Amino acid sequence: MDQKYEALFTPWKIGNVEIKNRIVMCPMGGTSLFGWFELTGCHFDKEAAKLFLERAKNNVGLIIPGIAPLRDTFWGKWLWQNPKMFEELKVFMDEIHKTGAKLFIQLTAGMGRSWAITELVAPLHKNKFTRALVKPIIGNLLLI
Ligand SMILES: Cc1cc2nc3c(=O)[nH]c(=O)nc-3n(C[C@H](O)[C@H](O)[C@H](O)COP(=O)(O)O)c2cc1C
Repeated sequence: MDQKYEALFTPWKIGNVEIKNRIVMCPMGGTSLFGWFELTGCHFDKEAAKLFLERAKNNVGLIIPGIAPLRDTFWGKWLWQNPKMFEELKVFMDEIHKTGAKLFIQLTAGMGRSWAITELVAPLHKNKFTRALVKPIIGNLLLI
C-alpha cells in the first residue's frame, strides 16, 4: 500500500470506544435502522441492516445510520414502545461486532431548525382545521 494511505488504517478513540480505522460511513437520512418514516411505523429495517453489515464486512470502521427520531412520523409511536425492534437490533449488533466495526445510533428529538415550518406549510398551520389535520405528521417530526 502507498505509504500516504497508511494513516487511514490506524485505530482511534471516541471516549473509550476504539474505532479500528479512519473509514467512517456518515449518517444519511433514508438509511435509518428504525424505519421511522414509513407508514408501517417504527420497526427494525432489515434492508438497511443488510447494507450496513455488508459495509462492515468491507472494512468500514464506524457506521452511523441516518437519524433516528424518538417518535415515528405517522403514528407518533415512541421508539422504546417497540421492544421487538431492540431485540432484533441486539442480534444485528452482535453480527456487526464480529467484523470489528462499531455502529452508533444517532437519536434525535426532532428535526430542529433544519425542518422549520416552511412558507408552504405555514398557511396549513394557521388554519385551525388543516392544522389539526397536519399536526400528527408535522408534530411528530418537530416534536411540537
Ligand atoms: C441525503 C443526506 C442525508 C443526510 N442525513 C444525515 C443524518 O441523518 N444525520 C447527520 O448527522 N448527517 C446527515 N447528513 C450529513 C452527512 O452525514 C455528511 O456529514 C455531509 O453530507 C457532508 O459530507 P459530504 O461532503 O461527503 O457529503 C446527510 C447528508 C445527506 C446528503
